[in-house]
Amino acid sequence: MRVGVLTGGGDCPGLNAVIRAVVRKGELHYGDEFVGFRDGWRGVVEALTMPLDVERCRGILPRGGTILGSSRTNPYKLADGRERVRATLDSLKVDALILIGGEDTLGVAHRLAQDEGLLIVGVPKTIDNDLGATEFTFGFDTAVQVATDAIDRLHTTAEAHDRVLVCEVMGRHAGWIATYAGIAGGATAILIPEEPFDFDEVAEIVKRRHAKGRYASIVVVAEGATPRQGNEVLQTAELDAFGHVRLGGIGQRVAEEIERRTGFETRVTVLGHIQRGGTPTAFDRVLATRFGIAAIEAVHDGAAGQMVALQAAKIVRVPLAEAVVEPKTVDRQLYDGVASIFFG
Ligand code: F6P
Repeated sequence: MRVGVLTGGGDCPGLNAVIRAVVRKGELHYGDEFVGFRDGWRGVVEALTMPLDVERCRGILPRGGTILGSSRTNPYKLADGRERVRATLDSLKVDALILIGGEDTLGVAHRLAQDEGLLIVGVPKTIDNDLGATEFTFGFDTAVQVATDAIDRLHTTAEAHDRVLVCEVMGRHAGWIATYAGIAGGATAILIPEEPFDFDEVAEIVKRRHAKGRYASIVVVAEGATPRQGNEVLQTAELDAFGHVRLGGIGQRVAEEIERRTGFETRVTVLGHIQRGGTPTAFDRVLATRFGIAAIEAVHDGAAGQMVALQAAKIVRVPLAEAVVEPKTVDRQLYDGVASIFFG
């Protein structure tokens, strides 16, 4: 078969590991040929391709980013986007597409699979871990490790100066990174999009802890966390092709409000894209490799409109529709029953 591969949306560590696994099994086991589409859906709309074979994939397993490039292009936002996708696939004689993406890229995949009857298989990626129907997306474990390392470092300097340090992590709709890294790093409070917070309550938690003596505090806040009386803090309200604003700045706001209410010196660190770059953890390399192999097998089984997923430690197939219907939010038992036990 001739199989097209593309990576769309925000990059994350492990994309190259998926590509390598797809190509390895496809070429050596099935005798497939591959077309690499550049920069997500833009490559399909504009017929921007690159050669993709086992040789081209050598050495990419531990590399972050994606050899194919990525973008947030949405074919459905272009007047003739859908027709151009069809025309590119026809002219390049592509039989099937493997889409490695998050809710946006896979949402388009789902629509196109239905509208054009294409053989499309999805692979779930995002550091945010907010895709439905899979317990984990690859990239998440790496982001949590990066954030945990940062929190550990913040702890020692916070102790040296007895400061409060606020650490802003990514997490647009869901606070998975904040919750995992906050638990792993021993955070005093964790603020997530799922649970609008109150500045007074956060300040009380910090005061309670400091009342016990000289204790530095770490407050982890997801970029999408929102004060009960207020809105998300934005870097810009301009919308991307999928209708998302650019978040960022809630950490600064939280730091100012804590300092004002407690009198303790409070500083902020924003981890930003550091969480997305660099080498994937072993867990993410293995998960990405398993997903890649399962995706090319799904193509050969004709599993149109399906996504590979992790459920109970096994790789399974689920309808794309299930994955994109709504974001997977943080498990309440984990947040209320585990993380919050350590607040204050
Ligand atoms: O969806 C993953 C993510 O990293 C979000 O946490 C974040 O809001 C967004 O992507 C940032 O995207 P960009 O790099 O395009 O600004």
